Amino acid sequence: MANVKSIRDLDVAGKTALVRVDYNVPFRPGSADISDDSRIRASLPTLRYLQERSCRIIVCSHLGRPKGRVVESLRMAPVSRRLSELLGTPVIQARQCVGEEAASAAASLAPGGVLALENLRFHPGEEGNDAEFARGLAALADVYINDAFGAAHRAHASTTAVARLLPSASGFLMERELQFLGDALDAPERPFAAILGGAKVSDKIGVLENLMDKVDLLVIGGGMAATFIKAQGHSVGDSLVEDDRLAFARRIMDADADRDGYANILIPDDVIAADAFAADAKARVASASAIPDGWRIMDIGPQAARRYADALGECGTVIWNGPMGVFEWEAFSQGTAAVANTLAGMERATTITGGGSTAEAVAALGLANRMTHISSGGGASLEFMEGRELPGVAALMDNR
Ligand code: 3PG
Repeated sequence: MANVKSIRDLDVAGKTALVRVDYNVPFRPGSADISDDSRIRASLPTLRYLQERSCRIIVCSHLGRPKGRVVESLRMAPVSRRLSELLGTPVIQARQCVGEEAASAAASLAPGGVLALENLRFHPGEEGNDAEFARGLAALADVYINDAFGAAHRAHASTTAVARLLPSASGFLMERELQFLGDALDAPERPFAAILGGAKVSDKIGVLENLMDKVDLLVIGGGMAATFIKAQGHSVGDSLVEDDRLAFARRIMDADADRDGYANILIPDDVIAADAFAADAKARVASASAIPDGWRIMDIGPQAARRYADALGECGTVIWNGPMGVFEWEAFSQGTAAVANTLAGMERATTITGGGSTAEAVAALGLANRMTHISSGGGASLEFMEGRELPGVAALMDNR
């Protein structure tokens, strides 16, 4: 991406690099077992590149939201162990992020050696974007690499303040994310479609506003479809509706009806409805215009899935954020699976999925390798799609 310096442009040979990664990974409940290590894997190209240049590496990340206090269950040790296994080299785990102990651990590194700092968010200075804390981090290294796309929407000490204190550049993951998401929004192969799902319209308003005049096709699913269906004048039974967003949904659909340069919008014409919000609830296909009282929308229906597949199949670029239904429950996973399979079969198109639950659904279906790009960022990819400047990226642009 223009103006963001790449790791390739930075003299790293023999230097000590502070590498901000996003190792905010999920764990199996109540254990130290990482349930999805894809964020750690995604950082390996950058770390290997540095190792090949005899760089000493200091990785740093946040984990969870400890809010400036030490929380034992959020220590980085399990993450460092997994990193060491994947990298095939030892990783020293520091007990601190800044100060003498961290400095002496950094000084003891051999060329190519790796030190992992403790959870950045144990320090209040991290989320406070504190200059003193950033100076402490910068004092450990000669150069700074930001490969934490997933945290780029946060203006924190390790993502912004520190970038101004050292020669800085983006890592390969950051570069790849900005390239795929940036190209999709700026110069998409047309027709260009956006698929938006998930629970709430309010979470997607910024994206809808930004994409309405960019995409040719807008496909709506997930719990948020209920608000659009109600805005069409239908009853949606017991589905959750954001009544304060009905006018917004109507405006989006009216813009479509006018077709004055705006996207064609697809709203589900049928849904899978259930008599309770439960994995084993009674489920049935219902027309979107005839959802019975006492029932609620849990997924898009088979007719909608077919219509979506036909329309998407024509597209040159598709970006997808938010599942079509409650995909974690088998009975309500078909709509999400249908969209994922459609995208997986589009070999000539560019298919990009947002991070978070969309990435989780695609991975659970075993289709991750069939997408052009799966973002490692949840909130970050959403803010990028909203057209907002990400502070972590802006800091790399400012760097002199
Ligand atoms: C994420 O998981 O989306 C990032 O690591 C950011 O985490 P946060 O929402 O706690 O800042």
